[in-house]
Amino acid sequence: MSAEETLAQITKEVSTCTACALHRSRKRSVPGEGPAGTEIMFIGEGPGFNENEQGRPFVGAAGNLLNELLAQAGMKREAVWIGNVVKCRPPENRDPLPEELSACNAYLERQIAAIGPKIIITLGRFSMGKFLPGAKIGAVHGQMRRIGQRFVIAMFHPAAALHNASIKPMLVKDFAQLPKLLEQARAALGQPATVPAGEPPEEAKQLSMF
Ligand code: URA
Ligand code: SF4
Repeated sequence: MSAEETLAQITKEVSTCTACALHRSRKRSVPGEGPAGTEIMFIGEGPGFNENEQGRPFVGAAGNLLNELLAQAGMKREAVWIGNVVKCRPPENRDPLPEELSACNAYLERQIAAIGPKIIITLGRFSMGKFLPGAKIGAVHGQMRRIGQRFVIAMFHPAAALHNASIKPMLVKDFAQLPKLLEQARAALGQPATVPAGEPPEEAKQLSMF
């Protein structure tokens, strides 16, 4: 199966998934979107009100800010993949529960494997927790770390910047670094990998670039 076909297959599975309780309250599942050949994946938390209505990620207020940040960094939204750690909206936008995160995890893993991005950007603490367990966003945001065959950059969630004005300048700065970090990632991944994909994050973290 091509990467496109795999992504389409996952989208189809997600649309009828009943693996966790979130399926009961969803209107539309939100599998994520973006080209199979992209180098960058943005991974947020979960669908909110607007995403649940439209079946698309980051289409509400946080999405408008994300679009603005991408444009300011000279990037096209259509050129990157955007999705979430849970594909169905938690009621009242509550935090996803551990069992919901673990039930949904395999879809994201398969999406990442199909795309093979050079950089994963985590937006928010649940996404950061998957890749950088125990990390503190205030300390690590904007820093690129190698994990296996790719790099991970944790960033503040755009919604956090909407609620707390002091966060937005940090987010703008982190996004502005992205083109440069992508160049670095391309250069580093052009070399033979120093850590095989699938190595435990603890070991990979010691090889972080900064
Ligand atoms: N917030 C998220 O984390 N994801 C979305 O898709 C929208 C808002
Ligand atoms: Fe399935 Fe994920 Fe939706 Fe839960 S959140 S029902 S695991 S697609």
